[in-house]
Amino acid sequence: MNPLIGKRVIITGGAGFIGSSITEELCNENEVIVIDDLSTGRIENIQHLIKSEKIKFIKDTITNIALLKRIFKDADYVFHQAAIPSVPRSISDPILSNEAGITGTLCVLVAAHDCGVKKVIYASSSSVYGDTPTLPKRENMASNPLSPYALTKLAGEQYCRIFNEIYGLSTISLRYFNVYGPRQDPGSEYAAVIPGFIAKTIKGEPITIYGDGEQTRDFTYIKDVVQANIRAAESSATGYYNIAGGKRTSINELADTICRIVGRKVEIRYAPPRPGDIKHSLADITKAKEAFGYEPKYDLWKGLEETVGSFKSTMGDYNDELFR
Ligand SMILES: NC(=O)c1ccc[n+]([C@@H]2O[C@H](COP(=O)([O-])OP(=O)(O)OC[C@H]3O[C@@H](n4cnc5c(N)ncnc54)[C@H](O)[C@@H]3O)[C@@H](O)[C@H]2O)c1
Repeated sequence: MNPLIGKRVIITGGAGFIGSSITEELCNENEVIVIDDLSTGRIENIQHLIKSEKIKFIKDTITNIALLKRIFKDADYVFHQAAIPSVPRSISDPILSNEAGITGTLCVLVAAHDCGVKKVIYASSSSVYGDTPTLPKRENMASNPLSPYALTKLAGEQYCRIFNEIYGLSTISLRYFNVYGPRQDPGSEYAAVIPGFIAKTIKGEPITIYGDGEQTRDFTYIKDVVQANIRAAESSATGYYNIAGGKRTSINELADTICRIVGRKVEIRYAPPRPGDIKHSLADITKAKEAFGYEPKYDLWKGLEETVGSFKSTMGDYNDELFR
């Protein structure tokens, strides 16, 4: 059950994959305003909610501080999801990544403080840990960002901490580990691994694995991430928290599982590893469990089944050429 009721809520990046899922969960019982410049998000993700007037949508950038200061008035919570969420894209365009991730986050925090927002819930990332060999990753480990993207996430966290300590603005950073689920965009050149694999497998096309496929990730289902955000908002917890499934899966195992769920075997092609990618990732989620009762409810099979089902039913909405 979603316990957030009767609040005024801002969701930055609310037309994106994770932001639209939080928006959908909160819009029935709360006043929800989404701000998104649609740079990587898709209006289709929230069109039904705009049409039915369940949310107010503002197409603009989070670096427009004057606008933020107007719309954050009387807000209880800001779920700050907006960013350019891609390691390779941050390597090809670090300035764009910096602008959305660091300047944008600073604008969100300044406006939230000025408007007396109760709490900012910030979308951070497992990438802040870098390639430290110790597993599982715990929040007290040193960070070592390996890409401009990871650096923006770390800087955002640090800004959140400083606004908490110096300005008294309540903030919490959720370090998401490889989130997947319905609505995640498979079409982009920078698509995350799961939507890309699912789309290709449904179409019977070869899939590409970078490296030997033995690298591991801690995959996290979107519904668990949405619940983590709501619990984090309601709790008095501040600081950094891992949000993950708490299990590791290799990319080879992932490809095999997707083929089994889709019911089709496709060719796997191996390509050289990509710069900035880490080898292994696994979270210790004890801190979030203890602080605000975070408990993942979806294992990989259950989450992938729902995701594949959703992709199968919506693939008609996609343009074929998007599935490169
Ligand atoms: N998906 C994951 O596995 C994952 C893992 C770790 C962290 N995160 C973080 O979670 C957040 C959401 O990621 P996502 O996977 O939903 O990606 P997404 O690209 O679907 O969503 C990001 C949204 O932010 C919007 N945006 C970008 N720059 C903006 C700006 N300057 N002003 C306003 N809106 C802007 C985009 O249009 C998009 O709708 C990001 O902050 C990302 O860094 C995601």
